[in-house]
Amino acid sequence: MACKIPETESLVCNAQTAFSSTFGGKAEVAVAAPGRVNIIGEHTDYNEGFVFPMALPLATVVVGSRTDSGLCRILTLSKSVDEPFRVEFPLPTPAHPLIPGKPSWANYIKGVIANFAGSLSSFDAVVTTSVPLGGGLSSSASLEVAMYTFLEALTGTKASSLQAKALACQKAEHDFTNMPCGIMDQFISTMGKKGHALLIDCRSLESSLVPLDDPSVTFVITNSNVHHTLTGSEYPMRRKQCYEAAKIMGKSSLRDATLQDLEKHKASMMDEVIYQRALHVITEIERTQEAVNVLKMRDYVTFGKMMTASHNSLKYQYEVSCAELDQLVELALEIDGVFGSRMTGGGFGGCTVTLVKQGAKDKLISHICEKYSGQATFYICTPSEGAKEL
Ligand code: ADP
Ligand code: GAL
Repeated sequence: MACKIPETESLVCNAQTAFSSTFGGKAEVAVAAPGRVNIIGEHTDYNEGFVFPMALPLATVVVGSRTDSGLCRILTLSKSVDEPFRVEFPLPTPAHPLIPGKPSWANYIKGVIANFAGSLSSFDAVVTTSVPLGGGLSSSASLEVAMYTFLEALTGTKASSLQAKALACQKAEHDFTNMPCGIMDQFISTMGKKGHALLIDCRSLESSLVPLDDPSVTFVITNSNVHHTLTGSEYPMRRKQCYEAAKIMGKSSLRDATLQDLEKHKASMMDEVIYQRALHVITEIERTQEAVNVLKMRDYVTFGKMMTASHNSLKYQYEVSCAELDQLVELALEIDGVFGSRMTGGGFGGCTVTLVKQGAKDKLISHICEKYSGQATFYICTPSEGAKEL
């Protein structure tokens, strides 16, 4: 059975209850920002390539009120983060800027406060989420974007554009959590639209909505419920390897490189690994653009093959998959009615995304439940709205 996704209203209700018992009174502002699933275009955003995510009905909610305490006081209702679950710190000033510290979950929030373009007010707030933490569905970006949206609502100062807002949240993550992420997660959490996925050009930062409204097919997200701790060191290493490959080819990013360039420079890539990394990125950027074109024509067979090709490239060339994700993809592909399946997000655990005929999704889920070596959870996801004040 797929997980029941809690309504945003019930998240708000829980957060309001916790707000009154922790801080007293009723929170005057409530906002939500979604997690995301990336359908295709993995590890391409920091190479100025294309990505194709959609916003999920899973979301992070922040409720809160202005205060005159001079403090930012925040409680998270997530129990899987490092303690304490409640933090407080003074509003930053130029002489006393915020710095990252413990607990580590609060660094996402501090980073957003530090990068908020407007004059701040002190506040009390409660955070809650239906996005699984560390599951590759961007609980972290949804927390950043929810927090930024909360500060906008609290102060009445909007970011100059949605792009500027997403970039501020990305910078928060870079500066305060040491994770050199690309732009995809914050963009889709900010700009997602109901019934659509978003093709993002991570060079120009332009994006276009693509309808995903055919009721005969659906995307099933399968959470492997494993999270190998490699991401922290492997992700920055992949980034470096990509920059090195681009440099060897005399390009400013892998977006400009072709397979011909790669073959021409293969001999000067002393390390075979650099060649393999670039091979993934160059083919994935091209695959993503083609895949979106075939999806628009509802050619699910070709689209599905491209999803699976993306997975194999991430497994063999980019080496960011793991045994559990590979097993989930293999099991999915055994089912009639499945068009394609792949790992999604940074890798080393987290989720897969599978395109399947509506009528075959129950068979897919029970097959995985029966055969998967771990305990999987499932989400049937319809594309949802980006961040908003409620
Ligand atoms: P994901 O793929 O879910 O973004 P990450 O490991 O990048 O995985 O980010 C997860 C981290 O983000 C958590 O360990 C926690 O520090 C922080 N986080 C996300 N959501 C919340 C929340 N609702 N409350 C507190 N911290 C959160
Ligand atoms: C995520 C990261 C994104 C993107 C993705 C891989 O974890 O936050 O920016 O690079 O990995 O496609």
